[in-house]
Amino acid sequence: MIDYLREENIDENLIRQVKVYRKKNKAYENRRIRKPQYKFYGKEVLEEALAALLAGKNLLLTGAKATGKNVLAENLAYIFNRPVYNVSMHVNTDAASLVGADTFKDGEVVFRKGPIYKAAEEGGFAILDEINMAKNEAISVLHASLDYRKIIDLAGYDQIEIDPNTRFIGTMNYGYIGTRELNEALASRFMIIHVPSITYENLDKLLRDTFPRLKQKYRKAFIDLFESLRLKSENNEISSRSVDLRGLIGAIETMEIGLSPYKALQIGLVNKSFDDFERELILDTLRSKFPEDIEESIFDE
Ligand SMILES: Nc1ncnc2c1ncn2[C@@H]1O[C@H](COP(=O)(O)OP(=O)(O)OP(=O)(O)O)[C@@H](O)[C@H]1O
Ligand SMILES: [Mg+2]
Repeated sequence: MIDYLREENIDENLIRQVKVYRKKNKAYENRRIRKPQYKFYGKEVLEEALAALLAGKNLLLTGAKATGKNVLAENLAYIFNRPVYNVSMHVNTDAASLVGADTFKDGEVVFRKGPIYKAAEEGGFAILDEINMAKNEAISVLHASLDYRKIIDLAGYDQIEIDPNTRFIGTMNYGYIGTRELNEALASRFMIIHVPSITYENLDKLLRDTFPRLKQKYRKAFIDLFESLRLKSENNEISSRSVDLRGLIGAIETMEIGLSPYKALQIGLVNKSFDDFERELILDTLRSKFPEDIEESIFDE
């Protein structure tokens, strides 16, 4: 993991402090400490996140879709060598589903711990995914956990002290229809990092690492296509629907199975738009970059 930070050119002073942290807080056996499937690429964002977490702060990662917010959160947990608890937040999330509640077991009342309770006990990283989707009533149980009090205060129970290694990382997408504003009291309890969409250089690095067999010429063509769509969306010629890195990666994975690039890009990117007129515009861009039939394989043998 330290090698990865070096590759990303992370400030040496930060790397040193991460090392000190890891030494002080010895790793213990935990199946929730997992190596992430993807690396996060983005030096500035990583440095801001590392500094805030080293300072003991909680993080809120905001940004457009598929900018790597969850990938970043998982990498951070791994860098700090902490167990991860993923919590998807939605309108029906309530305090009990976060912290826990009494349930019956073998005819007796027992307290079943929720993910926040467990993360607080173990000094884990609780990833509060789409935190803005939850209702304020559900979130208010976290207020005391997120500020200097560092306790869980669940009405009718003893207060639970939170292990000092515990961190909360919220993720929040704006731009999707139906996303809600985050209330001020909650926003105040986080350091907020705006995760920008990936740079040209980092996208190149990501595709090289993820698809080492992909021929360079096609890698460049995919990036070129993605960048044109991004530009068209920024100029309001098309919506942001097809500007979807998740879709591009999915399309290349489908090409590995054997579907033609043209068709794979259609199902991965073009069809993300449900507007006939817009889909034609996206298809025009695709046609200008990829012929419907490519004779050779886009992968090295
Ligand atoms: N900067 C980046 N570094 C590494 N991977 C990235 C980056 N940006 C996007 N990705 C890739 O995009 C995909 C989506 O990542 P992720 O799920 O973390 O996005 P997200 O920001 O949480 O999206 P959403 O807001 O839609 O939930 C992953 O395959 C990830 O590898
Ligand atoms: Mg996400």
